[in-house]
Amino acid sequence: MLRIDIISVQPQMFRGFLEESIVARAVKKGACEVNVVDLRDFGEGKWKKVDDKPYGGGPGMLMKCGPWFEAVESCRPDAATRVIMTSPAGKTFTQRDAETFAGLAPLPSPDHLIFLCGHYEGFDARIETLATDRYSIGDFVMTGGELAAAAMVDAIVRLLPGVLGGGPAATASETFGRDGGGLEAPQYTHPPEFRGMKVPEILLSGDHRKIEAWRKAEARRLTEANRPDLLPS
Ligand SMILES: C[S@@+](CC[C@H](N)C(=O)[O-])C[C@H]1O[C@@H](n2cnc3c(N)ncnc32)[C@H](O)[C@@H]1O
Repeated sequence: MLRIDIISVQPQMFRGFLEESIVARAVKKGACEVNVVDLRDFGEGKWKKVDDKPYGGGPGMLMKCGPWFEAVESCRPDAATRVIMTSPAGKTFTQRDAETFAGLAPLPSPDHLIFLCGHYEGFDARIETLATDRYSIGDFVMTGGELAAAAMVDAIVRLLPGVLGGGPAATASETFGRDGGGLEAPQYTHPPEFRGMKVPEILLSGDHRKIEAWRKAEARRLTEANRPDLLPS
């Protein structure tokens, strides 16, 4: 079973995420275990300090080494644990990474992930020595790493066996999925006509070969229009 530890100075931010989401369902089904560790428990002195001024000057505060090293050690990482630092300066997290961490890629999958959620101006650079990976969720800067960690954990956990109905095939044909990696074709449900907008005739035809061909062509059209960078070169 995959164990996920998330270290944060704002553990309460994960309350809804862990109680209401697909992650809650996955935990209930025994697909994974998710623990949130309060960095403040490892804070220094009477005020449980986790941050300090940067050497050399500059705005804001940096997260201190001591609390981070102790918090990570409290999660008992072993040689196979992936310690993921959230950072706008990291590699952009993709569906391929979610598949690797969920054990869908051919690479050996880890059974323990630790997410480090930064705050303030970020981490003292020495904290990076704790990390095996540094991931960003996009080219923008947020106040803290909690939303980034939640986004990555959600993307990983929904791929774990037994979490979604439909098995691995359900996610293979999605946007960025393992079947081609482009965008998903448009989808429709009842009613067949809504405010003058009709479901494409082909989807009502029952001809599965033609429907499959239509979906492939639509997926290609959307990918060319919105994300040409995803097309094979
Ligand atoms: C205000 S940011 C620090 C930004 C840092 N001073 C810089 O310029 O790279 C505080 C924390 O939010 C998290 N964070 C912000 N944007 C992120 C992103 N796009 N992806 C992942 N984590 C992010 C990281 O944990 C980061 O340490």
